[in-house]
Amino acid sequence: MRSLLFVPADSERKLAKGRESGASGLILDLEDSVAAHNRPEARKMARAALEGPRTPELWVRINPIAGDDALLDLAAVMPGKPCGVLLPKCTPDDLRRLDDYLSALEVEHGIARFATKVIAIATETGAGVFRLGEYGGITPRLAALTWGAEDLAALLGATNRRPDGVYDDTFRLVRALCVIGAQAAGVEAIDTIYADFRNEAGLREECQAGRRAGFTGKMAIHPAQLDPINEAFSPNEEELTWARDVVAAFAANPNAGTIGLAGKMVDRPHLVLAQRILSRLGRAGT
Ligand code: COA
Ligand code: MG
Repeated sequence: MRSLLFVPADSERKLAKGRESGASGLILDLEDSVAAHNRPEARKMARAALEGPRTPELWVRINPIAGDDALLDLAAVMPGKPCGVLLPKCTPDDLRRLDDYLSALEVEHGIARFATKVIAIATETGAGVFRLGEYGGITPRLAALTWGAEDLAALLGATNRRPDGVYDDTFRLVRALCVIGAQAAGVEAIDTIYADFRNEAGLREECQAGRRAGFTGKMAIHPAQLDPINEAFSPNEEELTWARDVVAAFAANPNAGTIGLAGKMVDRPHLVLAQRILSRLGRAGT
């Protein structure tokens, strides 16, 4: 999942624009970008959107699992068989609950068990942050972990960026824990949104930082963000050449633990990284 664009589910215009944006997936949002009084209408519109084309993939962000809104969201959209659900303010217990709800709704709507994927937004509460290592083995639906800087900042009464625009320590910490938690759970890590949507240079810089950290894609809030994100999260020529060279070097020296390549040491972890880069290429566009 290279790029996922948030589309407020109560905006038909944005849905149409989103479909043309080049995103790998759209997230029909029923949570923060929709005013509470508009939610019943937004649910109907999300359900209707699911009747339309399914490329890009259609995901739905529901409301936090503890409230009644989450059940109303799921009841409204599951007949439309979304590709998956994003769960905000998530803890591992919330994911278990969602897994059970989805299993019941899949049976009701003739959907194969576990066909509905889940992306957990796993850093939006302090309790969630401290449990980022617990997502492994809960459910095969879990496709990715992602993180959010806005809700946690609001709960902490904090500003998430320093005056120079760089995330402050707390938010760099949770970003790192998100990537590590995803690895521990054996799922992808998707980077959070970049809110300053007119600042393309800033977005590009943040995409590169996200790639270096190990994220495999990034969420977007505006169609103009898709080109920079898609470019940044596709393997570039330099990386591909390096990865192919590393794989070839180990193939030619199957008994070597470590090899000198272009004046630098490469060993087994580099081979693992090279294989990851090449397998990502196989999934480019998804
Ligand atoms: N998805 C699809 N289309 C979008 C879009 C989005 N997320 N954001 C903007 N557009 C469209 C606009 O409708 C507009 O199209 P139009 O000229 O045909 O009407 C065009 O792109 C340009 O939009 P622009 O004027 O630059 O932005 P805006 O002021 O209308 O909207 C936001 C700014 C932030 C309100 C809007 O980008 C948005 O709603 N983003 C998603 C917010 C969200 O979902 N947040 C929750 C997750 S954090
Ligand atoms: Mg939020």
